[in-house]
Amino acid sequence: MGVAAAEIRLDQRVTSFVKERRKLLIGGQWVDAASGKTFPVYNPATGDVIAHVAEGDKQDIDRAVKAARRAFESGAWPRLTPSERGRLVWKLGDLILEHLEELAELESLDNGKPINVARAADVPLAADLFHYMAGWATKIEGNTIPISVPYAPGAQFHAYTLREPVGVVGQIIPWNFPLLMAAWKLGPALAAGCTVVLKLAEETPLSGLRLGELIQEAGFPDGVVNIITGFGETAGAALAAHPGVDKVAFTGSTEVGKLIVQAAARDLKKVSLELGGKSPNVVLRDADLDLAVAGTAGAIFFNHGQCCCAGSRLYVQQQLFDKVVEGVANEARKIKVGPGLDPETQMGPMVSEIQFKRVCGYLESGINEGAKAVVGGKKLSGKGYFVEPTVLVDTRPDMKVIQEEIFGPVVAAIPFKEFDDDLVKAANDTVYGLAAGVWTKDIGKAHALASKLKSGTVWINCFNIFDAALPFGGYKQSGWGREMGHDALDLYTQKKAVCAAL
Ligand code: NAI
Ligand code: MG
Repeated sequence: MGVAAAEIRLDQRVTSFVKERRKLLIGGQWVDAASGKTFPVYNPATGDVIAHVAEGDKQDIDRAVKAARRAFESGAWPRLTPSERGRLVWKLGDLILEHLEELAELESLDNGKPINVARAADVPLAADLFHYMAGWATKIEGNTIPISVPYAPGAQFHAYTLREPVGVVGQIIPWNFPLLMAAWKLGPALAAGCTVVLKLAEETPLSGLRLGELIQEAGFPDGVVNIITGFGETAGAALAAHPGVDKVAFTGSTEVGKLIVQAAARDLKKVSLELGGKSPNVVLRDADLDLAVAGTAGAIFFNHGQCCCAGSRLYVQQQLFDKVVEGVANEARKIKVGPGLDPETQMGPMVSEIQFKRVCGYLESGINEGAKAVVGGKKLSGKGYFVEPTVLVDTRPDMKVIQEEIFGPVVAAIPFKEFDDDLVKAANDTVYGLAAGVWTKDIGKAHALASKLKSGTVWINCFNIFDAALPFGGYKQSGWGREMGHDALDLYTQKKAVCAAL
């Protein structure tokens, strides 16, 4: 294992995109921050600056919210038919596919993820989300409701419900899947007819800014989507607190999720949250060993462990424990760690110096508290924010590495004796409840466990399977609401009951 080097030659559109100082998209115009400030964007594989973007803050959020309000209340957007709206959303999906290579390169450069993963997963999934949501624009329906009204004998009514867009939406997204998270947020909001102020993650603003250009190219009216780059404590906080915003949708840390709720409480904005996780991945003794080893390794090492649903607590039944640990450790040893833009790379750097230090801090704390690294356990020397894929054993339930979200390529393997309530208790022993995995050939056990795990998603003999049609979200402190699937439309619509006396 070592840091590879031969990087692809960037598409000329990518090099020219990053060369130019990038601005904010407000009311259909690309503008500088009101303060005139900018901030640098880094390549996590080297620590070098790759671009400069506008540093939006409170004033810019205010401008953007006003533009979104105007676009929601007047102009072309509210007059579009559902079919026209759906066609715009579909077109955006098409444009993403047309620019697949360019977007994949931007994503890999900015976030550090392997270029082949960005090409095969991030960009196509983002396009598919828009295509899926485009179809919903014409299918957001209310009901006609027969009512009885016992205190009005003989009277007749015609009652029905309308589902209306919730209004101006503030969306705040993280850096782990920058383009895809923008798609998860924008797709249903636009299909429902909302207007949006989208705050990109400060670590990874580039693909979202390019998406802003594609949104214009698709033909969305000005102000329907406004895009702000800036920091969480300033731009993000201002968006969550802005009285002109009807709803906030957030993906990120549970800690910031709580701040969002507090800010939104002042005027009781609607809130949806997709937060952290500490997902259990359970291997029963009758599991297909090869499948379970490859699957549990992928569950933690995909996207360098920077996944809210990463299978970071690996529970293995005693009889298979040594084999699974050795198998996952072997998978870890085989992983080619390097810059995302090297096509040979299978795992890139942590997204930022801060994230790199956080993960290294967890590795140290785990080892200081008595855990043992079967493989990995350290950072890689040299430039960039690389850490070794790591398998820990000999942990205790109270250790920080077991309780807290690491958000890095670090899995703790924990043996268990029986398929019983103690196993369920251990798997559920976390404040989080985002996802879980189960590996077994026993269909009864698989579904029994699926029903008992307190998490928004359970994968059986697979992991990290995402689809635009499949709702995703958290139990407990992993969040509020479900993104993707038709459930996502509930986040961006509200119901009106209309009752007419006949
Ligand atoms: P974060 O929660 O601070 O950042 C996510 C987004 O929220 C960014 O756009 C950021 O600018 C914004 N933000 C930050 N503070 C804010 C505030 N006070 N008001 C409004 N918006 C704010 O996450 P960060 O610092 O990047 O990562 C810390 C940890 O969070 C990670 O180690 C990981 O455990 C977790 N995380 C979870 C993610 C998920 O997908 N659920 C994604 C990213 C991080
Ligand atoms: Mg933060």
